[in-house]
This record gives sequence, C-alpha cells and structure tokens, in this order.
Amino acid sequence: MARTLAIYPGSFDPPTNGHLDLIQRGSRLFDRLIVAVLVNLEKQPLFSVEDRVEMLRRLTRRMSKVTVDTFQGLLVDYAMKKRATATLRGIRAFSDYEYELQMALTNRRLEPRLETVFLMPAESYTYISSRLVREIFRHGGSVRAFVPRIVEDRLRQKPLQERGVNDAAF
Ligand code: PNS
Repeated sequence: MARTLAIYPGSFDPPTNGHLDLIQRGSRLFDRLIVAVLVNLEKQPLFSVEDRVEMLRRLTRRMSKVTVDTFQGLLVDYAMKKRATATLRGIRAFSDYEYELQMALTNRRLEPRLETVFLMPAESYTYISSRLVREIFRHGGSVRAFVPRIVEDRLRQKPLQERGVNDAAF
C-alpha cells in the first residue's frame, strides 16, 4: 500500500501553538510528516535554526510519525528528494490565502507531482503568528497564551536586551 509522506515547511521562528496544532492535524492525515525548517541566510531570526529544530523535536517527541529536519533552496527540490507527495500549509484567515495560493501554484508549476494541502488550525489559534509573537516578546509582553511552554522557557532564557524592558510580564 502506498504510504503518504508530507512536508510541513516554514520558518517556525518561533514555533507557536498554531504550528503545533497543525502538526497534530497533519500527523493524523499522513503516514509520515516532516516538519522542515527553512535555512534562510538573509533573515535576522530570533532563534537560530538549531534552536528551532531542537524546540520542534522536543514538541513532537511523542508523535511517532513526525520528524524534524532543515532545508535550503527550493521546497519542491527538497520534497522530491524526500519522495514526498504533499506539502502541508496552514491557512488561518482569508488574508493568508493570497500568499499561500501564490506559493502553492508556483510550486505546482515547478513540480506538478507535489500537491499542497491546506489545513485550518483550531479557531482559537487563527490569529497567532510567529511575527506577532516576536513583536510582543521584543516589547517585553507575555507570549504565554501563544506558544508552547518549551518555547516560552527558551524565550525567558534570552538576554535582557533581546527581551524588552518589561520582564515582569512573563
Ligand atoms: O513560515 P513561512 O516563513 O511562511 O514559510 C515560508 C516557506 C519556508 C514555506 C517558503 O518561503 C519556502 O518554501 N521557501 C523555500 C524557497 C522556495 O521554494 N520558494 C518558492 C516557493 S513559492
């Protein structure tokens, strides 16, 4: 019987409750799911790729179908190398759709054998984004409601100058 392997690509800087929700949903749908962190040398990230991989591995360690990896270059090349048949992306609100559609159709043009599967996270996570988490964190606000405990702890370990001024908010 054919086994389905999907790639869930992203920046995951940092991983949020919304990402975790999507990983759980994806792992129920596919036989195997690779969470693939993009190595983007142009961006100035909050967490190094190594830290993001480590957090994601801890978050998924009880999910036997899920592995965590990194990739560079085109997603379609990585997906073909892994023999994946699908790439998984989350759509939170209508505003995500345009960008996601553009990416999905471009990827399809580059590699017609790869399908993009969109899943919606639980309603309670529809407004969470890594960008907002980074912004709240950098201004010293509490991100407890938006990220898993492991991520919150790692943020707390960041040097004071990266954390904003209002440390009491944690
Ligand atoms: O979490 P993000 O930043 O929204 O994820 C974007 C990601 C990593 C899925 C996208 O930027 C990507 O696939 N980059 C790899 C380069 C690539 O294949 N570009 C063409 C896709 S249209």
